[in-house]
Order: sequence, then C-alpha cells, then structure tokens
Amino acid sequence: MEFKRHRRLRSSTSMRSLVRENHLRVDDFIYPMFVIEGENIKNEVPSMPGVYQVSMDLLVDEVREAYELGIRAIMFFGVITAKDEIGTGAFVDDGIVQEATRKVKKEFPDLLIVADTCLCEYTDHGHCGVIHNHDVDNDESLILLAKTAVSQAKAGADIIAPSNMMDGFVAVIRQALDEAGYTNIPIMSYAVKYASSFYGPFRDAADSAPQFGDRKTYQMDPANRLEALREAESDIEEGADFIMVKPALSFLDIVRDVRNNCDVPVVAYNVSGEYAMIKAASQNGWINEKELVLEMLTSMKRAGADIILTYFAKDVAAWLNEDN
Ligand code: PBG
Ligand code: ZN
Repeated sequence: MEFKRHRRLRSSTSMRSLVRENHLRVDDFIYPMFVIEGENIKNEVPSMPGVYQVSMDLLVDEVREAYELGIRAIMFFGVITAKDEIGTGAFVDDGIVQEATRKVKKEFPDLLIVADTCLCEYTDHGHCGVIHNHDVDNDESLILLAKTAVSQAKAGADIIAPSNMMDGFVAVIRQALDEAGYTNIPIMSYAVKYASSFYGPFRDAADSAPQFGDRKTYQMDPANRLEALREAESDIEEGADFIMVKPALSFLDIVRDVRNNCDVPVVAYNVSGEYAMIKAASQNGWINEKELVLEMLTSMKRAGADIILTYFAKDVAAWLNEDN
C-alpha cells in the first residue's frame, strides 16, 4: 500500500517543535491599557476580568509588571468624565493619555508607547469624529485628529495609531507630524477596521459607546473582503508604516489577504469581545484558558499577522517565560 505517513513528524514534543511553522514571541505583542482620572483607582472591567482602569498614580507600577515580563510595547486609552462635542480631551497637551505617556516614558525609555488616535473616548456623543447633521463629518474631524496625533507625539508617543476610520486620516496625520518635526514617528493605521459587535466590552472599559446610531458609516461592513484591500492600499499610499486588521478572530481571512497584498508589517487586534468570550468560558470551567489563548494567538500569526495587540499579552508573556 502506498500512502504518506504524516504522523512521522508528530511523533514527539521535540519532533513537533522542530517542524513547527509559527511561534509566539513576547516581542510580537502590544499590550493595551486603560488610564482613568482620579487617584488610587484600579477598577476591574466587569466584562473583561483581569483588565483594569488604572489611575495615573498607580500606572507606573502596572506598566512595570508588563515591562518585567518582557513586553516592550503598550497602548493607552483614556477614560475621562469631562467630555464635549469635539473631544477636546483628546488633543490638549495635558490630556490624560499625553500625561500618561510622559510619565511612563520617563520611567521606561525603551518601552514603545503606541497612541490610539481617536476622539470617541472624549466626545460627549461617543462618535470618533465631530457631528454635523447627525453624521460624522469627515474633513472637520481630520483637523482634530491631526492635532491629537501631534499632541501625542509631543508627549513622547513612539507610534501613532489612528483608529477613527475617517477617509484621509493617514495623509493628514502624516503631514501634520512632518510639519511639527516628527518625520521619524511611524503611523500604525487601523486601516481595516470593521463595524463589529466584538468591541462591546471595550466600550464599557473606555466609556466610548456612541450615544446615538452606530459606527457603520465609517467602520467597514463585516461582509466585505475586497474593501479591505482598498482600505489598506490607500493607507499605504498615504504613508502608513503598519496596517492593522481589527477584529482579528473572525477576520483571519482578511489578515491573510492583507499579508499577501501588502509589504508592511501587519497587526492583528485581538479585541475586547474575543477576550471576554474566552474569559467567560474559562471562568465556567468550559475550556482550558491557557491552551485556547495560545492556539488562538498562534492562529493569528499563521494567518499572517506580524504583531498582535492583545489583552492577554501579560498572561502569554508569563506562559512563554515559564515554558522556557
Ligand atoms: C476607538 C477604538 C475602539 C477599539 C479600539 N479603539 C472601539 C470602537 O471603535 O468602538 C476597540 C478595541 C477592543 O474592542 O478591544 N475607536
Ligand atoms: Zn473611536
């Protein structure tokens, strides 16, 4: 009988390690964190067990935990109460993310700080731009987003990551950064961002849910595939240094498409809803959390992601350390 013996390469742990095609490394992770106003606050997000809103005075200790595990890239989201129509809190020099960036950068100079450039955490209506006639006005919003990016760079952010999904945001932000002298600060564009229900827990954590309507006029329709390539292509033309696909788990085909069609680093955002589902199942004893998380994140690498944004970053870093 003639047949292939594929099991030869699966015969032992060492054999499997030898032929393994994809690996997780702590260098691949960006760890997202929530900074909240006030003092001595460490609120666990109910829908995201293990994820906290942390006040500025406790932030350095929180970051140190991640740093000591080997994580060298984090992202900040700000949680504030005084919001307004245009999201002023996003672009003032003493904004919560700007202050957090300054403080953490001083303690950990080689830790990369990725700034999420959006307005939804700072607008009273919760949309990612300014509203005219009940819709988000693209070009008006661009002006404020450019201001936000420059204030983040000025505070010491190493990477600007615009997540707002306005058309032309990369072009406008690139020009503003260059004019302000930040020609060396890269843009990690959330180019391929779908209007997804997987963001639910994040909107609790960041208090950024839209107060009317939804984000479907600016974020992408989850049914679309070719549109992802149009988005990625235009952002690269405009000067994006990284392209992000978000969410990750239900969009691994898109990660692969972008990997095959673009020659910049591809980032997958393992979003809040993906985290919440695993945590909930794990707390019920229905799944093995460690094995499942490693399988899920490895599948993102296999789909073509070079970098993964994940709330599991610290857990995985610890698991990788203990396994070595
Ligand atoms: C802000 C932003 C969102 C996320 C990252 N940046 C939410 C949204 O677009 O509503 C989602 C992250 C997550 O779900 O983990 N524009
Ligand atoms: Zn937003």
